[in-house]
Amino acid sequence: MEVRPTDSNIYKLLRISAIRQETQDVKTFIFEPLDIKIPYSPGQFLTFIFNHHHKEERRSFSISSSPALAEPLSITLKRIENGAYSRLLIDRTQVGDILYTTGAAGLFTLPADIANRKQLFFLAAGIGITPVFSLLKTALHEYHHLQVVLIYSNRHNKETVFYNDLVALEKKFAGRLRIEFLFSNSFDLSRARLSKWLLPTLISEYATVAKEDILYYICGPFTYMRMAIISLQEQGVPDANIRKENFDTVTAIPHILPPDTEPHNVVLNVQGQQYNFTVQYPQSILQAAKKLHIPIPYSCETGRCGSCSALCTTGTVWLSYNEVLTDTDLAAGKVLTCTGYPVKGNITLTV
Ligand SMILES: Cc1cc2nc3c(=O)[nH]c(=O)nc-3n(C[C@H](O)[C@H](O)[C@H](O)COP(=O)(O)OP(=O)(O)OC[C@H]3O[C@@H](n4cnc5c(N)ncnc54)[C@H](O)[C@@H]3O)c2cc1C
Ligand code: FES
Repeated sequence: MEVRPTDSNIYKLLRISAIRQETQDVKTFIFEPLDIKIPYSPGQFLTFIFNHHHKEERRSFSISSSPALAEPLSITLKRIENGAYSRLLIDRTQVGDILYTTGAAGLFTLPADIANRKQLFFLAAGIGITPVFSLLKTALHEYHHLQVVLIYSNRHNKETVFYNDLVALEKKFAGRLRIEFLFSNSFDLSRARLSKWLLPTLISEYATVAKEDILYYICGPFTYMRMAIISLQEQGVPDANIRKENFDTVTAIPHILPPDTEPHNVVLNVQGQQYNFTVQYPQSILQAAKKLHIPIPYSCETGRCGSCSALCTTGTVWLSYNEVLTDTDLAAGKVLTCTGYPVKGNITLTV
């Protein structure tokens, strides 16, 4: 099977070299590059391009391999009932098939100051383990000073992706990796589901430094993530120490109007090319660029993944929604083009 996008020139090709069944509805796809090797950081995702009736559709899947172990590039994905592309990949894709990707992106990565960090807590639920698995392997193999805790929620151990690998890692890195598997079918209800009561208990149990100094990574269903974030905030953990990856691009986002809906000029630098165009609400910068067929990166189109982040060097970009850029990113001039609108004048962006 070859899923060919409408304009394949700007995409990278990946051939599936192996497929591993992880649980009943989860598979890992292992790739070999066909043209150029794809660089990535642990915790990032690949955005794939599919062609649906001559129209491009994109889906992102987190990378489960770790560059620190020189593992071949791989993604791990769950079959979604009624899901167009997760079903296509899980049910019909075979070894030897070729997929098209725009490459790796995402901000759910280890920080630049990792040498100063002492402990990482990973909170994962279900398929949310995928980017966490890559980060956790990298933290253990590459950063020998780090203490690592994984709190991993599933219905039961048969559905737990990477269960055996994780148990083996806990043995290999005894003293550095602690794992709390939570199974919602457990008879012990006090340790079944992660809740705003259980999370502080587990932090007290496993923390080796002050809870405000731990770096937390969260990935799972929307309600799980919301509970975990609020609970950490209530514990006094600063937002800068909470990293989150949201797989859900479906839940509606609030609709708010920019403070300025006048048309403004945008100068956009992409891959050494400069484009000039006008953007006016309700069209976002990304929508305007797509209409002009400018090869600009994007995936979720809802301010949740970070694929479309750009640097704003002049002017002001107002974001209708942002789940990924931190205050530090925003202060450095980073913006999202999918939920971004120029306000108060013209702007210059570099992707
Ligand atoms: C940054 C990022 C990283 C991701 N990483 C992974 C990963 O590592 N592994 C993985 O399996 N998925 C991952 N996803 C989710 C994945 O991209 C798709 O959203 C998912 O596979 C559904 O796509 P689809 O084409 O099968 O379904 P669609 O055809 O888009 O949707 C069909 C129906 O399924 C429901 N649906 C869509 N997405 C979800 C979802 N995520 N959970 C529950 N119901 C849903 C919708 O309600 C919709 O009605 C990631 C998403 C993002 C944004
Ligand atoms: S495309 Fe995902 S944040 Fe913009």
